[in-house]
Amino acid sequence: MMSLFSLSAFKPFRSSSDKAYVSPSALIIILALLTGGCGFSDTTPETKLSEMQKVSLTAELQEIYKQSCANCHESSATGAPVTGDTERWQVVYNKPFELTLSRVIDGYGGMPPLGQCFQCSREQLVSLIHYMSRPADRQP
Ligand code: HEC
Repeated sequence: MMSLFSLSAFKPFRSSSDKAYVSPSALIIILALLTGGCGFSDTTPETKLSEMQKVSLTAELQEIYKQSCANCHESSATGAPVTGDTERWQVVYNKPFELTLSRVIDGYGGMPPLGQCFQCSREQLVSLIHYMSRPADRQP
């Protein structure tokens, strides 16, 4: 838990949408438990990702995606779920979304903490995850 607190303390930038300076993952997780785990996810366990609309990214997030996530998430050789591979992402989304988000923030297996996007806010990470998990709308 301490690592989470120090991580957020050292974030150099924060998006304007990320108003809460005191927003440790612990709070999010408690909130998620209280609200039945709907948190940031726009899906339910019954949602089929392959039937969902593409998600487009803002120019800023496209840049972040290309510089961080795409390095690993565009090639199955890395073991990462590939962007647009809805079958693989379905397995990820069948777990509570908060677990996925905490794995992204803390790192998990070959997944580095914050996907190496150290300036990313939680909301930005959520948008990136939604983008990667929907039918591909890849930027060249
Ligand atoms: C250095 C390579 C690398 C980078 C960079 C990277 N990832 Fe990953 N990511 C992985 C790998 C490998 C996995 C699979 C981990 C596993 O299942 O063991 C993964 C898994 C994930 C998962 C699924 C976690 C779960 O619950 O199973 C999400 C979501 C994710 N990455 C998001 C991102 C985002 C968002 C970015 C960019 C901000 C990013 N990743 C950048 C390698 C990377």
